[in-house]
Amino acid sequence: MKMDRPHVNMNPVTGSDIALDNLCYSADGKDILKSISWQSDAARVGVVGRNGSGKSTLARILAGLIEASSGSALINGHDLAKDRKVALTEVGILFQNPDHQIIFPTVQEEISFGLRQLGQSRNEAEQTTQATLAYFGKSHWAEVSVSVLSQGQKHLVCLMAVCAMKPRMIILDEPFSGIDIPTKMQLKRYLSHYEGGLLHIAHDPDDLSGYDQIIWLEKGSVVQTGKACDVLPDYISEMNALGGSDDISDLAR
Ligand SMILES: Nc1ncnc2c1ncn2[C@@H]1O[C@H](COP(=O)(O)OP(=O)(O)OP(=O)(O)O)[C@@H](O)[C@H]1O
Ligand SMILES: [Mg+2]
Repeated sequence: MKMDRPHVNMNPVTGSDIALDNLCYSADGKDILKSISWQSDAARVGVVGRNGSGKSTLARILAGLIEASSGSALINGHDLAKDRKVALTEVGILFQNPDHQIIFPTVQEEISFGLRQLGQSRNEAEQTTQATLAYFGKSHWAEVSVSVLSQGQKHLVCLMAVCAMKPRMIILDEPFSGIDIPTKMQLKRYLSHYEGGLLHIAHDPDDLSGYDQIIWLEKGSVVQTGKACDVLPDYISEMNALGGSDDISDLAR
């Protein structure tokens, strides 16, 4: 039987309006994000920066999972930390670590959960889950216990769960870590057709080439923003310069 491709269409992709205004976030007495102001309505947004620069923290704030200490972070005009119902349709987030995301014992339950949150009936959620698994060629995973999957396979379960919900924007926090080369190529193709926006955190600049907008963070502040073709060469040359140094004290903090 030929499967529908429910999440891929040839419509132009549309981005979300991201508006950060003097966004600050502190925890444990540490200033993690420092007065970030930035706007973007790009469909493909990349976030780069060294370990500990604040990328995952920014992702969590954008998804509304944690609140800014001061300033604001709006997605399409919504403060998602204050409006969790709207957050479900506006943003889906793929965490850096799948163990922080997965809460249910089986793949079917994990994917269905978000769909039930969206208001789908048990039956609808089951059907959407089956269609999603079929699209990714993983129908045989439905009853599999998530705990027996490898780390890369768990990552894929999380990505399928997010994609099944079709949010207006998907936040991807290092989505390809631990993913083998063929799976990465397939996921990249899939994501390139995603009709909503993508905000993609990556250490490998190749993953973000051609992106409409890049934000480069260091130590919680913005170093540079702009198109990938303008920002990434500067970022790569700075990273190479730092990597070429033998000063171990300059390793990421
Ligand atoms: N709740 C918290 N309490 C204390 N410190 C925190 C908290 N959350 C994040 N941090 C610190 O903030 C800094 C930024 O963390 P974050 O996870 O956002 O970095 P990152 O850019 O995603 O790094 P990586 O590339 O390693 O994933 C780190 O130094 C981290 O230890
Ligand atoms: Mg991170």
